[in-house]
Amino acid sequence: MADKTNDKPPMPASATGVGDRPVKKTFLDRHKVLEKNATLLLVASFAVVTVGGIVEIAPLFYLENTIEEVEGMRPYSPLELAGRDIYVREGCYVCHSQMIRPMRDEVERYGHYSLAAESMYDHPFQWGSKRTGPDLARVGGRYSDEWHVLHLTDPQSVVPESVMPKYGYLTDRMVDAEHIDDLLATHAMVGVPYTEEMIQTASVDFAAQIDPFGEGADALLERYPGAQVRNFDGQPGVSEMDALVAYLQMLGTLVDFTTFTPDASR
Ligand code: HEC
Repeated sequence: MADKTNDKPPMPASATGVGDRPVKKTFLDRHKVLEKNATLLLVASFAVVTVGGIVEIAPLFYLENTIEEVEGMRPYSPLELAGRDIYVREGCYVCHSQMIRPMRDEVERYGHYSLAAESMYDHPFQWGSKRTGPDLARVGGRYSDEWHVLHLTDPQSVVPESVMPKYGYLTDRMVDAEHIDDLLATHAMVGVPYTEEMIQTASVDFAAQIDPFGEGADALLERYPGAQVRNFDGQPGVSEMDALVAYLQMLGTLVDFTTFTPDASR
């Protein structure tokens, strides 16, 4: 191999005065061994990737939480959780995302970019990957309940060019609260911090949220601070419309962004 490099300009004679060229192995010469042996190259690549992987992954094992904590986040109230189930059942996520990216156009249109903590109680999360309609991560409080009921019943009546389907039948369908405690218990199983008490009072809290003058409202608000208590669709009974609008009206309202300062280390 060394012979083939003979066409290089001759090196200065060595100190011994003899005309031979010093055979000095450079780092790249040593690397040739790896380049010419596929198996060795594979083993060495594996070793490098392993070290890189460990350096990246190992610290995560020692972190208690990779989600930045923010004030105000709480699990969904039973009515909101039921509404969320309807949102998933109806496939609203097919046309709507719930994830505001930190780009200027999005922040100016939808509000503060979404934080990981804001969807930490979502199982499954509703970030979505398609926006036929606008992002809904902060739609809570943007419209009145009446607007939502009207819009869901007949979207084209408020936005004539809308391609959103009609969901008027939700007003006629009552939500059966019989298994609402099981729903909370299931979410508790996958890590949502519902307490025993919250699970036991689920059906009471469920009915209390559409009854602002009822006895259960205060207890509900103590368990779920910031929950909005009112009859969302204006009809007697808890309809699927009530549940869905309760869910929409709380989206993105839990974190107070006037007092929020992002952790500079992230
Ligand atoms: C076929 C796609 C499609 C589906 C499915 C869909 N939407 Fe929409 N949605 C739209 C479009 C398009 C708009 C924008 C025009 C309008 O306001 O109707 C919109 C607008 C909205 C808005 C107003 C948002 C804003 O900021 O103005 C809300 C709230 C909403 N949709 C909720 C829902 C809910 C809840 C569901 C499921 C029950 C749903 N959508 C299903 C397409 C869809």
